[in-house]
Formats: sequence, C-alpha cells, structure tokens
Amino acid sequence: MKMITAKDYSNMSEKAAAYLLDKIKQAPDLTLGLATGGTPIETYKCLVQDHKKNNTTYQHITTFNLDEYIGVKAEDPNSYYHYMKEHLFDHVDIPKQQINIPNGMASDLEQECKEYEQKIADRGGIDLQLLGLGSNGHIGFNEPGTAFDSTTHVIELTQATREANARFFDKMEEVPKQAITMGIANIMKSREILLIVSGEKKSKALDRLLNGEIDPSFPASILKKHPNVTIIADEAVLKHTR
Ligand code: F6R
Repeated sequence: MKMITAKDYSNMSEKAAAYLLDKIKQAPDLTLGLATGGTPIETYKCLVQDHKKNNTTYQHITTFNLDEYIGVKAEDPNSYYHYMKEHLFDHVDIPKQQINIPNGMASDLEQECKEYEQKIADRGGIDLQLLGLGSNGHIGFNEPGTAFDSTTHVIELTQATREANARFFDKMEEVPKQAITMGIANIMKSREILLIVSGEKKSKALDRLLNGEIDPSFPASILKKHPNVTIIADEAVLKHTR
C-alpha cells in the first residue's frame, strides 16, 4: 500500500481530487467506484470546481456507488443517491444512464443485488474504487465479520455505524438499520483502490489497517492483499498511528 500524506482535510481532498482527475484524463472512459459519507465531500467539491474551471469531461465515465440505505427513497435528502447528486452528479456532465447506485427501495432486494453484480460485470469491473474507512474497519458497508469473498448483498448496520452516521439525520431512530453494499470481493477486484482517511477519530482504524492482522473482524485489513492501493491520509490521523 502506497501512502501519500496530506496536511489537513482540505489538502487530503485536493490530493484525492488531483489523483482522480489524473486517472480520468488518462482514461476518459474510466469505471469509477464511488463512496459517500463525510470524508469524500470536499474531494467531490474539488472535482466540481475543476469541471467548472477546466471543463474536464465525465461524458464517458461510468460510476458504481458502493452502497445505499434500505428503505430510504432516492429523493430523501439522506439517501446516497441524493448525496451523490448534491455533491457531484448534478454539477458535472455525466450522463444519467452511466450512474449506478443500488436501489434500496427495490421490492426484491436479493434480485437488486444480483442485478447490481451483473451491471458491474457487464461493464468489465471497476477500474478505480474510492473508499473511506469506517471507524470499525468497514469498507463500503461491509461490517466486521463480513466474508472476504462476499459480493453485493444486504447488510445489517452495526449500532456503531448507525451512531457514526446519526449526524446526518434528525433523530437516531431515523438512521436505517440495513443497507445494500458491494461486497469485499467486488472491492478487491477493482483494478486500483484509493482510500482517503482524515482526522484523529480515524487513527485507531488506520493504525489497525497498517499494523494489524488480516482478519474479517476488521474488513479493511484485506486491502493489504490488493496489489494497487493508495492511501491519502492527513496529519491528524497519522499523528496517532504507529
Ligand atoms: C460510504 C461508505 C462507508 C464510509 C465510511 C466512512 O459510501 O461506504 O464505508 O466510507 O463509513 O464514513 P465517513 O467518511 O463519514 O467517516
């Protein structure tokens, strides 16, 4: 795993955006795996600023988001679909039909997972997967204990993850209990992975990723087996890692 250090959250975001833009320019038909959550917000902001300033095009980019809450409508401000529109898709020139996000309102969730798998396969897999890091080591919503060979599936969110995400909701009761997530096997099959980590509260998790054992109790640990992972981490998170 290659480590790029950044001064702070803004600098990490600038570096992550520059990294993504470089790949997009090299391969304008890239298949990008995307993450939501707090960490990538400013990375997306930098991509939007670049699009406005330099006209970098997303006309031939295809995206697959890692996950979506179950039972939250697309138009709900808390859906990941809404998040992606707000932070990226509404501000760049990506055609709607090239955007893929699991449908957490599907009546048959198993079928939805199968179809999502098929769409990823039809596209030839993911070229570059952007990841954030859960404090409990989750990647996507693959919570501790998820099998390393898992594909797209329905997952019960842990109390810790629901509490971490409660900041986006009015009340704790509104935080969904389930999500659809790409599996660990999907993430590991992507040709390249960019993991972004910021802030002291992620120190323990980053430390365990860098120095701990490869074990399903800490899903991110499997990334050590991927041949092409780049981590961009800021000084606040690195200060407390060994
Ligand atoms: C989001 C996702 C999650 C987040 C993780 C970190 O699509 O898949 O794995 O990356 O929960 O979230 P933040 O960035 O909010 O700390």
